[in-house]
Amino acid sequence: MSKIEIKNLYAEYADKDGKFQALKDVSFSVRAGEFVSVIGSSGCGNSTLLGVLQGIISPSSGSAFIDGRPVTGPGTNRAAVFQHYSLFPWMTVRKNIAFGIKQAKKSLPRNARYAAAQVFLTRVGLSGSEHKYPFQLSGGMQQRAAIARALAMDTDILLMDEPFGAIDAKNRSNMQKLLLSLWEGDGPSKKKTVVFVTHDIDEAIFLSDRIIMLSNSPGQIAAEFDVYFPRPRIHSTIRETGEYINLRNKLMTLFYDENTGVAAAEEYTI
Ligand SMILES: Nc1ncnc2c1ncn2[C@@H]1O[C@H](COP(=O)(O)OP(=O)(O)OP(=O)(O)O)[C@@H](O)[C@H]1O
Ligand SMILES: [Mg+2]
Repeated sequence: MSKIEIKNLYAEYADKDGKFQALKDVSFSVRAGEFVSVIGSSGCGNSTLLGVLQGIISPSSGSAFIDGRPVTGPGTNRAAVFQHYSLFPWMTVRKNIAFGIKQAKKSLPRNARYAAAQVFLTRVGLSGSEHKYPFQLSGGMQQRAAIARALAMDTDILLMDEPFGAIDAKNRSNMQKLLLSLWEGDGPSKKKTVVFVTHDIDEAIFLSDRIIMLSNSPGQIAAEFDVYFPRPRIHSTIRETGEYINLRNKLMTLFYDENTGVAAAEEYTI
């Protein structure tokens, strides 16, 4: 059974002219332990798709399933990093993270929650800022705190919406490595299932087992690409290979094609 399954998903928003279709007939599944990236132009429905998986957006038709059960609302088996990072402004950074852990692991004692929060704060490079409030942090630091919260929750599924968008290049590379090391866990059976939205093609290739490209709005699946590079991956090594350059070119052409659509995609599908 797939960990995540999306079947014939349509999503609409009400707008002044009636209805705006954001997603059209999207179907795909994600295996347990798989790392899937979703790439699509701005406005094509990336966040809408993750919102459906989080259980905060209801599809107009079709369904999303997790572990074979329909998604009807948020669940403690999923941790999300939102595009607009969402720390609670009245809690310190450490408390924000400890609160996330409490949601996912109700039985963990308070001391253990705070200790785990401190570990993750340190791993994202925020030790020293644990007692600050979100407004006292830079945008990139707030985003790292939101990532620490999601990772610290240690859920089966991670839903990440451009999580590294506001992070500088050096921290971004560290965060990618941290995410991969946590994703890999303690062996194949422990692997998390990740759905990761990004606009960065190199990031998607470096991280993913599979890349799903959405068409321009309304978002449909334009193409899927398996990413075969063995792990652990070293970016500076794989990016020199012919396979990397070939895959990157295909993704870039499709991404920058003004008319990216399902028909246009067929010739690129590998
Ligand atoms: N609450 C809303 N009401 C009306 N339209 C909406 C609403 N939220 C999103 N949309 C529209 O639905 C489409 C998809 O939005 P979504 O947020 O999924 O885009 P996205 O692919 O995540 O974009 P980006 O990559 O820029 O974050 C967009 O055209 C957007 O204008
Ligand atoms: Mg978005």
